[in-house]
Amino acid sequence: MKNVKITGTGSYVPDKVLTNFDLEKFLDTSDEWITSRTGIRTRHVAAEHETTSDLATEASRRALSMAGIQPEEIDMIIVGTITGDYPWPATACVVQHKLGLRNCAAYDVSAACSGFVYALDAAVSRIKSGAGSKALVIGAEVLTRAVDWEDRNTCVLFGDGAGAVVLEACDEDKGILSTHLHADGAYAELLYQPGFGSRNPASEEGLKARLPYLKMQGNEVFKIAVRSLTEVAFEALEANGMTAEDVDLFIPHQANQRILDATAKRIGFRDEQVYVNVDRFGNTSGASIPIALDEANRGGKIQPGDVVLLDAFGGGLTWGAALIRW
Ligand code: UT7
Repeated sequence: MKNVKITGTGSYVPDKVLTNFDLEKFLDTSDEWITSRTGIRTRHVAAEHETTSDLATEASRRALSMAGIQPEEIDMIIVGTITGDYPWPATACVVQHKLGLRNCAAYDVSAACSGFVYALDAAVSRIKSGAGSKALVIGAEVLTRAVDWEDRNTCVLFGDGAGAVVLEACDEDKGILSTHLHADGAYAELLYQPGFGSRNPASEEGLKARLPYLKMQGNEVFKIAVRSLTEVAFEALEANGMTAEDVDLFIPHQANQRILDATAKRIGFRDEQVYVNVDRFGNTSGASIPIALDEANRGGKIQPGDVVLLDAFGGGLTWGAALIRW
């Protein structure tokens, strides 16, 4: 076994769509502000009965079906999420059960919007170490239950969804060429959920102070995001002796159109090389890259032999990239 390749992709977003005009009805905001500052026009919202594991399981079924393998063949399930069904146990364990599996390794990775790339790195390493030959790697979130719907600075940005890939060991000259992960905990409180962990355990006062909801210093995060996404993209290209010209499709974390534009420009990508769906889904955190990857794959935008660059950034702060030959 030389490499690890993606043999199936899948994604699932809930049916319900929330438009900027819907938000105008209960929030001091406007479609004009949201589209000009973020590029977001709509986001999907989970139905009351839907949880993160439901979205993840449906995305996984679609990825398994494309790969043409049975769930029982999977050796590990790794989910990148910060909005799991429960604080613990891991959503990966719930997904495992919903897929009718037992015994295989199943765990979550907490790296916020970088969660999928972090999970991908873990699965590739485990397969290369011989711990198994087939993995399900998922990014899944129900962010709309973690945002404060009274905070216009944040709630307009996020949406729900899930994306999954099947990874398999292979002997071909293709697959995940390299992964590159970084973090800087000095910035932990620029983007975080202050309650209810061990720092601020559950309390009535904490609820009144809205501690269980996402908080972000958007402006600061914006600047660090552009810098970090750019740096780690160059790191991945240089590690493989490539330049921006060698990349067929650039799939950055879908946080904000202005972040995508600034990052793509700094790296040197033309518009045609950049995959964008933030206008339709908003920021789905750990799910954003695998949803975009699945859309691009099913839409015929990725062909065998193509070079694809995944580029992630999120709470932690964390960031990372994966370079893939399809
Ligand atoms: O997923 C990983 C990490 N997340 C990100 O990468 C997000 C990074 N940050 C951003 O995308 C942007 O910083 C935001 C979209 C969050 C904000 O855009 P901005 O251009 O940085 O705006 P700002 O924070 O400087 O706010 C400008 C103004 C403020 O009013 P004043 O103080 O200038 O009067 C805000 O109160 O816009 C106001 N504002 C809004 N107005 C209408 C903030 N949110 C809204 C809103 N509707 N929803």
